[in-house]
Amino acid sequence: MRVLVIGSGAREHALLLALASDPGVTELFCAPGNAGIAAVATVREVDASHGPAVVELAKEVGADLVVVGPEVPLVLGVADALRAAGIACFGPSADAARIEGSKAFAKDVMAAAGVRTAHSEIVDNPAKLDSALDRFGPNWVVKDDGLAAGKGVVVTTDRAAARDHAAELLENGHPVLLESFLDGPEVSLFCLVDGETVVPLLPAQDHKRVGDNDAGPNTGGMGAYTPLPWLPEGSVERIVDEVVAPVAAELVRRGSGFSGLLYAGLAIGKEGPAVVEFNCRFGDPETQAVLALLESPLGELLHATATGTLADQPALRWRDGAAVAVVIAAENYPGTPRTGDVISGSDAEGVLHAGTARRDDGAIVSAGGRVLSVIGTGADLLAARDEAYQRLAAIKLPGSHFRTDIGLAAVLGRITV
Ligand code: GLY
Repeated sequence: MRVLVIGSGAREHALLLALASDPGVTELFCAPGNAGIAAVATVREVDASHGPAVVELAKEVGADLVVVGPEVPLVLGVADALRAAGIACFGPSADAARIEGSKAFAKDVMAAAGVRTAHSEIVDNPAKLDSALDRFGPNWVVKDDGLAAGKGVVVTTDRAAARDHAAELLENGHPVLLESFLDGPEVSLFCLVDGETVVPLLPAQDHKRVGDNDAGPNTGGMGAYTPLPWLPEGSVERIVDEVVAPVAAELVRRGSGFSGLLYAGLAIGKEGPAVVEFNCRFGDPETQAVLALLESPLGELLHATATGTLADQPALRWRDGAAVAVVIAAENYPGTPRTGDVISGSDAEGVLHAGTARRDDGAIVSAGGRVLSVIGTGADLLAARDEAYQRLAAIKLPGSHFRTDIGLAAVLGRITV
């Protein structure tokens, strides 16, 4: 099977490495890719958000399957264009991708499916902002109602900070979503979904704030680990039964059946799981940790999902132990990152590339905010952390920063439900 992966992050690098280890995958292509991905796949250029361009490339490389990594192409209908051209695509239609692209749609689907989630209000008129803020707190959750790669979210007990963020979004023409705060540790559960068939992967936890101990602003994700030793037994089944399966069924009922990866971001509170958000694609950096433990052939799984035969697949197989992904970010991320710095040590085992590029002189340089994801695996979370941080110590990128506490609260038994 010839597979074309669309995207350029460490998530796509992880997908490509897992695909490369599937004996059924014969040839790998990636567009637009990055400097590290070029070592595992033939890298091509493409406007990833332009359906006809992706279709043309898929035909040119003879792809039997296209895997779309990021949400923007999916929301813009790239999967629809591929399917219309008769090419198998892992990724939902634009209609189904609204579960991520439109928070109002997601809330409506959840209400119809009886799924627990935060109470929310959309504010699109600055004159109504103060009265709306008064209906929330003492923890304010302020989100950009569109796609913002995680960075449009501010969670704060400071009303003035909540107001400033909301006002800035409104000034830039973005409607604001205010949400009640959901208590409890967060879980990312990725599920392969093919209509009403739901197959969960291992649960993971992201670290969204930029600094240790969850200090500083939200980012796209600074690290992740899997599995979750603190998650009560039966939780994954409960999340599938109470959250993902009802949402998948509701999407089918609306004629917007989901095909691809449905990512449920949840808070595990005293009353059980409640949805923080849905995403219509693999999460980053959780994918880097989760796929490090996957033993089943990924190409076969994604192809089965794309072609409506996921229900016929055998149960997933996982390696024992744990995996940790630590993100190395460029100076000033999550603000405007500094780019163009030379990176050394980035071709080592367990190092996945995101914002990297190869300069004309052959040097690998930073080219984005999140630059690398460093993976460690081990018999348990402690061992996986040790390996990840040992590998990370050998990498040099001037001005870069990373969190030192990925998975640490779980290792220390400090997460309780
Ligand atoms: N881990 C956050 C995201 O992928 O959106």
